[in-house]
Amino acid sequence: MSSQTQTANVSLTTLRKIKQRGEKFVCLTAYDACFASICSAAGVEVLLVGDSLGMVLQGHDSTLPVTMDDMVYHMQCVKRGNKGALLMADLPFMSYASEPQTLENAARLMRAGAHMVKLEGGAWIENTTRLLAERGIPVCAHMGLTPQSVNRIGGFHVQGRDTKQAQSIIDEAQLLQNAGASILLLECVPRSLGKTVTEALDIPVIGIGAGPDTTAQIMVLHDVLGISPITPKFVRNFLAGSSDGIPGAIKSYVDAVKAQTFPAEEHCFN
Ligand code: KIV
Repeated sequence: MSSQTQTANVSLTTLRKIKQRGEKFVCLTAYDACFASICSAAGVEVLLVGDSLGMVLQGHDSTLPVTMDDMVYHMQCVKRGNKGALLMADLPFMSYASEPQTLENAARLMRAGAHMVKLEGGAWIENTTRLLAERGIPVCAHMGLTPQSVNRIGGFHVQGRDTKQAQSIIDEAQLLQNAGASILLLECVPRSLGKTVTEALDIPVIGIGAGPDTTAQIMVLHDVLGISPITPKFVRNFLAGSSDGIPGAIKSYVDAVKAQTFPAEEHCFN
């Protein structure tokens, strides 16, 4: 696929084919129609309407205050601007605490334009993943650093640094794949664990702060543009070197992931 413009609608089949070819696919968060248009036209294959909007748009210090109404509103905006990317939406904090609630809220996101939903957790989301997958809603399981659990974790820290925790991430990722997850997203883990999990699974693994060996990369839009208040180690500001403003920055990000020059060694946790 050209990284200039999407030539056809991206589906899970498209992503699996990219993985089979040993190539990388590119993901980015988007929260409105304008950026959805720019990013999808630049070749971003998956747009995530992430609950990170609570931090980068709403100014909260975590994703916990984000509501279903917020997610539906931003999903509808992104759908209007999208030019062929696969659209993923986060189920926000406490929106998948019971089965009826999970089904109702996932359906709201799908009706708003999502092609799949993302939820955070390990073994404890096994039944929820199966519940959704069996009803035709593709699931991306988000593991590693799960920001909705920031208070239990005690901060936004790298996960899976010790052998026991790393092994449980591998085991639980396999559990979620077996329960029907179509994609795994792995956030803030050592590079070696990103590689091991990717090799252990058949489904694509999207990494953020998980090193260069995952099937795909995702970043928060505001981080790529260098306008977030904090700059984690795994972030690169692509606007800084752009000669074509924001569209040029997004295109550079796409090209760098495809060419496997991003993430580089300095963006990895070892
Ligand atoms: O909400 C979000 O933007 C995310 C990314 C950090 C992957 O989950």
